[in-house]
Amino acid sequence: MERHGSRWGGRWLVGLAVIVFALGGGIGNAQGPKPGGWLGKLPAEKQIEAIDRQLRGFDMAMFEVNYRYTEMYFGAIEGNWDYALYTGEKIAWAIENGFERRPKRRANAEAIFLKGAYPPVIDAIKKKDPALFKERFDALRAACNACHAAEAVAFIKVGIPAIKQTPLVTN
Ligand code: HEC
Repeated sequence: MERHGSRWGGRWLVGLAVIVFALGGGIGNAQGPKPGGWLGKLPAEKQIEAIDRQLRGFDMAMFEVNYRYTEMYFGAIEGNWDYALYTGEKIAWAIENGFERRPKRRANAEAIFLKGAYPPVIDAIKKKDPALFKERFDALRAACNACHAAEAVAFIKVGIPAIKQTPLVTN
C-alpha cells in the first residue's frame, strides 16, 4: 500500500508540475492562456466574436426549450415525475440564458410564459397530478404560441408532443 501510494504521489507531482508550467506560460502572456483547438487557430481579436457566433441567439435557447418541453410532457405522462421536474425546471434556465443573448425577448417571455403559464405546470408536476398536468400543459402550449405571435414568428406553432426525444424508460 505504502509503495503504491508513493507511486501515485509521484504522478501527482508530475501533473502539478505540468499545470504550473502551463499556467506560468499563460501568466507570462498578456493575453492570458491561449485556447487550443479551432478557437486557438483564430487570431486573438476574433476569438470572442467566434464564441458569440457559435453560441448563437434565441433560436438555440428555443432548441433546448423545445426538447425539454417534449421531454417534460412524456416524463409526466409516463409517471416519471422526478424526470419531468428535472427537465421542466431547466426550461426557465434555457430561456433566461437566451435573454443574455437577446435581451429584447425578455418582456414577452416573462409576461406570457415565465410569470404566466409556466409556474402552474411545475406546480402540477410537484403535485404528481396527471389531469391537472394535462390541463396546464395545454395552457403552456398556448403560451409558447402566444409568445411566438408576439415576437413575429407566429408560423412556429407548437402542438402537444407526439414523439419522445429520448429512449428513457421508467422500469
Ligand atoms: C419570447 C417568447 C417565447 C416563448 C415564451 C417561447 N418562444 Fe419559441 N421562439 C421564440 C422566438 C423569438 C423564436 C425565433 C428565434 C430566432 O430565430 O431567433 C422561437 C423559436 C422557436 C422554435 C424554432 C427553433 C428553431 O430555430 O428551430 C421552436 C421549436 C420553439 N420556439 C418552441 C417553443 C416552445 C415549445 C415554447 C414553450 C415551451 C416556446 N418556444 C416558448 C420566442 C418564444
